[in-house]
Amino acid sequence: MADSWEALEAECLRCNGCALCEKRQHVVFGDGARDAEILLVGEGPGQREDEQGVPFVGPAGQLLDDMLEIIHLDRTKVYVANIVKCRPPGNRDPLNVEQDACMGFLRRQTALLRPKMIVCLGRIAAKAIIKEDFRITAEHGQWFERRGVHMTAIYHPSALLRDLSKRPETFSDLKSIQAKIREVCSHTTV
Ligand code: URA
Repeated sequence: MADSWEALEAECLRCNGCALCEKRQHVVFGDGARDAEILLVGEGPGQREDEQGVPFVGPAGQLLDDMLEIIHLDRTKVYVANIVKCRPPGNRDPLNVEQDACMGFLRRQTALLRPKMIVCLGRIAAKAIIKEDFRITAEHGQWFERRGVHMTAIYHPSALLRDLSKRPETFSDLKSIQAKIREVCSHTTV
């Protein structure tokens, strides 16, 4: 039977595929336009996301909104999801076993969305989506293409909150994303 957003979300909300389900307040399935041409992927929910069930609503999310605004993009035009849908305790990196247990949901979200572009937010998402040995310091802002989908990674907004020196490079990466949107997207205007 064909997959649907409703069936996928319902399955995700009752998932107990790894130990992260034990301490969660909410599953953070994903948010945004289900016909978006652009998929943004973070690593996993933080405290505020766990409380609200929505990705990128805490301090990193505020910065993400500001970053998108630089290129005239907002949340209504993109879809936002994470590699893992439940909060890792103390905001630690999600373990490989947790990522493996959860990746099927992101794969199915991607299959339903059929994005033209995937922007990985940070190292964890870039390693899971672009390539296992992705080096965020050396390879952020570079473009990769797989089965017609254009992919790139930028520094995670949390890293940009901690380290202001990374912001100029991120500005260039955002301008490159804007140019790529103009090149490959048909109904996303920036
Ligand atoms: N960091 C992430 O990677 N994802 C969120 O949803 C929030 C913070």
